[in-house]
Amino acid sequence: MSGKTLHVDKTKQENVMLRRTACRVCGSKKLHKFLSLGPIPLVNKFLGEEQLSSPEDFYPLDVYFCTNCYLVQLLDIVSPQVLFEEYAYLTGASEPMQIHFSKLADEVLENFKLNENSLVIDIGSNDGTLLQCFSKFGLQTLGIEPASNIAQLAEAKGIHTVTDFFDEGCAIKLRKEYGPANVILGTNIFAHVDNLESLMRGINCLLANDGVFIIEVPYLPNLLNNLEFDTIYHEHLSYFAVHPLVYLFRKFGMEILDVKQVPVHGGSIRVFVQRALKQQSQNVDNLLLMERKAMLNSLKTYLKFAEEVVLVKEKLVQLLKTLKKEGAKITGYGAPAKGNVLLNYCKIGRDVLDYVTDTTPFKQGKYTPGTHIPVFPVKKFHEEPPDYALLLAWNYADEILQKESDYRKKGGKFILPIPEPKVI
Ligand code: TMP
Ligand code: ZN
Repeated sequence: MSGKTLHVDKTKQENVMLRRTACRVCGSKKLHKFLSLGPIPLVNKFLGEEQLSSPEDFYPLDVYFCTNCYLVQLLDIVSPQVLFEEYAYLTGASEPMQIHFSKLADEVLENFKLNENSLVIDIGSNDGTLLQCFSKFGLQTLGIEPASNIAQLAEAKGIHTVTDFFDEGCAIKLRKEYGPANVILGTNIFAHVDNLESLMRGINCLLANDGVFIIEVPYLPNLLNNLEFDTIYHEHLSYFAVHPLVYLFRKFGMEILDVKQVPVHGGSIRVFVQRALKQQSQNVDNLLLMERKAMLNSLKTYLKFAEEVVLVKEKLVQLLKTLKKEGAKITGYGAPAKGNVLLNYCKIGRDVLDYVTDTTPFKQGKYTPGTHIPVFPVKKFHEEPPDYALLLAWNYADEILQKESDYRKKGGKFILPIPEPKVI
């Protein structure tokens, strides 16, 4: 496994990092650290060849539990400008996400009275994949996306996109220019925002009185049960269960209308939020009860999780070591951000993985942060198949196993890293 020297540039870190001392949702200072995965680099910052010889910045990655509102969270905040201005993640690069968003749009159109005058705003709209599912039915759409390189892609598809970070100030401007929104979407942004107060004030300003705010966030019980520790990284500041969300929305005069589990990003929840509810779905109480039974309110639960994470790391490192000793050729399949958490935390470098493949054009031709493994298009995997492929994009296991059935028929194997390293 690669032995890297860590570069921690304290002055630079002070410029790009902020340390929070109180809980992001309730303001309590009763915060307990239960897991440390760092120091690691920023996992969406793929490196060009010319950057390989320069020192790389590593940042702490410590996870805390608030004993007041039960929010699991990071307190070391890397500046959003640094994290999101040039961004490598493209929604449209993963076909399952396109299908998922299309179903989300269908569900919204079925359940809420919308017409061609209705305005649908997507916060963190990425390449416009989700909004396209609404615009094709003739609804008005508006994207808000901080990464200018990605906002341009959406514009090119005809999805009008404002390049900005969403907060209260941005919402005030948008409300003046575009009027109130009937639907505001925030898929995979809610966990990325440090200042939830400003975000929620912004939602309150921009949402029509009877409008609906819909978020999707990875669901904490899935992270815990499936040991998805690699989904913890600097972009993900909060790890939500329903309990802290109820607490947060109430602070802003809103209630959860309904909540559903959806099978993306390792298991997420889709949460429908409104100002005045006629009736709340039973799903809300059901999940709250499940969360109590799973003892999400107890620090012990998180300390046990941390012990299990160390065991996964030890088992995976041991498995790869044994395979390498036997002379196996191993590569990585997918180069998601979470894959870079796994590689850095387990110190899996080029001495173990010959290369990784990924469908995202921005990542191809670059190197994985921290571990410096070259990223190729999937063609390389078909041309130079390994004996074993470490499935870093494990959340797409079903699709990928099906897609790569030829590789498997010819004797190629996949290694699933979590919840327990397994060869399939
Ligand atoms: P995500 O889990 O954050 O959506 O990222 C998944 C990454 O895996 C993304 O970079 C695209 C890549 N990917 C592949 O390389 N092959 C695939 O078949 C799929 C579905 C994703
Ligand atoms: Zn709290």
